[in-house]
Amino acid sequence: MNVEIAPSILAADFSVLGAAVRAAQDAGADAIHVDVMDGRFVPEITFGRRMVEALARHTSLPMDVHLMVADPQRHVAPFAQSGAGAITVHVEAFTGTVPARAALDAIRAAGANPGIALKPTTPPEALEDLWGAFDRILVMTVEPGASGQPFMAQMLPKIEKLAAESGRRHEAHEAGVPAVQIAVDGGIDERTAPLCVRAGATYLVAGSSVFSARRSVADGMAALRAAVTAPDPSSG
Ligand code: DX5
Ligand code: ZN
Repeated sequence: MNVEIAPSILAADFSVLGAAVRAAQDAGADAIHVDVMDGRFVPEITFGRRMVEALARHTSLPMDVHLMVADPQRHVAPFAQSGAGAITVHVEAFTGTVPARAALDAIRAAGANPGIALKPTTPPEALEDLWGAFDRILVMTVEPGASGQPFMAQMLPKIEKLAAESGRRHEAHEAGVPAVQIAVDGGIDERTAPLCVRAGATYLVAGSSVFSARRSVADGMAALRAAVTAPDPSSG
């Protein structure tokens, strides 16, 4: 199973984000994860769509925008126009299934891949009526809002459950869509990444394990990649 790694620039030095994005691409990143926070859905304020536009000029990788904002439907079109390849909204930011589905449909109509994120306390059942509208589920393995928090191992059964559900629906060819990708975000490092992959995640968002003062971006990416790449049984 191919596992993708998306470094989160939330953990990078904000004064040199262009260089951070270039370093991530050079180190083999599959996407750049951009955490958008509005000071309402989460306490912090981070980036707007102009940042996505600016960073897209430094990389050919898809920009994976994680909207931690209230009223996410207002922001879908602007971020899509700014070149986001994927836009993920939080299910908790909507008042019900109808507006959530409308926002996911708007993301797809704008040409980006729709994703849906779940806070740690939100159960998988919150997605029940939304399957088919999203390409990726972002399972938060920390409380959204900051980099550098410890991984919540109690999220592993949720990852397993959603991965199993994705597999079941894919086999049944429900809505004719490809398998929904299970992504994890928060506290992902070389120790926790294999646990998530074993549980069924195939997309890893990693902030402080890639962008840290203690090692280079290349070393951080290499450590993560090695941790989730099964050793070749013919070697050794
Ligand atoms: C948290 C963000 C994450 C964050 C991850 O709200 O969604 O993307 O940057 O950072 P680490 O990997 O350090 O937990
Ligand atoms: Zn994120």
